[in-house]
Amino acid sequence: MPEFVGAVDQGTTSTRFMIFDHDGGEVAKYQLEHRQILPRSGWVEHDPVEIWERTNSVMQNAFRASGLAPADLAAIGITNQRETTVVWDPRTGTPYYNAVVWQDTRTDAIAAALDRDGRGDVIRRKAGLPPATYFSGAKIQWILENVDGVREAAERGHALFGNTDSWVLWNLTGGPGGGVHATDVTNASRTMLMDLETLDWDDELLEIFGVPRAMLPTINASAHPEAFGRTRTTRPLRAAIPVTGVLGDQQAATVGQVCFAPGEAKNTYGTGNFLLLNTGTELVRSRSGLLTTVAYRFGDGPAVYALEGSIAVTGSAVQWLRDQLRIIGDAAESERLARSVEDSGGIYFVPAFSGLFAPYWRSDARGAIVGLSRYHTGGHLARATLEAICYQSRDVVEAMDRDSGVHLDVLKVDGGVTENDLCMQIQADVLGVPVSRPRIAETTALGAAYAAGLAVGFWRDTDELRSHWQESKRWEPGWSRERREEGYAGWKRAVERTLDWVKV
Ligand code: G3P
Repeated sequence: MPEFVGAVDQGTTSTRFMIFDHDGGEVAKYQLEHRQILPRSGWVEHDPVEIWERTNSVMQNAFRASGLAPADLAAIGITNQRETTVVWDPRTGTPYYNAVVWQDTRTDAIAAALDRDGRGDVIRRKAGLPPATYFSGAKIQWILENVDGVREAAERGHALFGNTDSWVLWNLTGGPGGGVHATDVTNASRTMLMDLETLDWDDELLEIFGVPRAMLPTINASAHPEAFGRTRTTRPLRAAIPVTGVLGDQQAATVGQVCFAPGEAKNTYGTGNFLLLNTGTELVRSRSGLLTTVAYRFGDGPAVYALEGSIAVTGSAVQWLRDQLRIIGDAAESERLARSVEDSGGIYFVPAFSGLFAPYWRSDARGAIVGLSRYHTGGHLARATLEAICYQSRDVVEAMDRDSGVHLDVLKVDGGVTENDLCMQIQADVLGVPVSRPRIAETTALGAAYAAGLAVGFWRDTDELRSHWQESKRWEPGWSRERREEGYAGWKRAVERTLDWVKV
């Protein structure tokens, strides 16, 4: 039996390939960024061909660097940025258009119209999602309506839709003539097209967005020994390795953080933040602006659901300080700059670049920095940026509390921003609960590897996975209750200022 499991993590800013051993330990990792294409304000695209090329390179480089061969892998898992929409021609493998990324707001008019005539409530009830620019359904509709020839092609079976999991899987398993066109329940639950109870594409939802069923991938469990096929025997691996795990990156992180019991939650700090609370096999509908989503489904077992608080802009606000404002040279400098001041000097930065996601769902919001005076420096802005990450997380923790009655006594965290010690300290201060980071911080790729490994018996069960989890660092809250509540009240006032800013 091969001794390792591999995972492709196709994320918003980069793609990585990782190899894990039996203890969930990292054996190899290789990562490459891809371009963020920003043609207009509010539009965000990726080049799917570039993403596939990067996937090839990271796999080959990870093997080269580790001295391992594809045959050393028992299975491969795929995890991905969710909702980002690719439509391609299966005859040639050529995309009809760039991938429309989850952060893209070009569909704001489509989304707003859904709430004017009751269709929004159908989507809420069946798909568990509020109609928003975030999800794939309206992005597919936009491509069908705006890219020449795609609607006709789709009706003739010459256009396939996929999130980047399906795009990578289809290419990896054979491409034109041989690719497996499939996805899993977690990714499908982000499209506004799947019924959360039947776990199948729903005709009424397809009708709302005018999406022909023939475009859609088959929906499988997140871990399955056969349903996703094997890698093709040409580039990049030149070996038929079973692909047995597919799940969206936030769900993968939930698995990597071993949140297998109802009431267990994790918060991932990437370009955005995503807090998922396992609600078990019970489908909990949110009254407070959270999403109901599938957490995972392993084999023939039941689907396990989650409540999710999705925040569009957190780590990408730090990138904005670096790339647009140029007040820092790299992400780590945001911590040094923020530490140069005692506090944010009373300013708040609400990075509503893509409108506001959970729990507000306001596509008419745009970013603001409030409370400025001549006194303020880049240090205050850097600190306000880190605070914004934490206050947005508090918004979703409060919503989760209201919806589920689950009061977190510790917040499990992961993702790039958790390297920022000051930010994690502020998170504990703002929430008033300890924050805990695991030894293996790459929980997203790990979760995809876990799903793939479970499907082929590489790991026995979730209890075995649970035994791998170890805390590496914990931050205890330091602020007084008064400071915490005062700070949060200021944040809520700042959020108010960003609403109703653009007409949709
Ligand atoms: O829903 C979007 C999310 O899946 C993106 O995650 O880590 O690629 O920013 P990330």
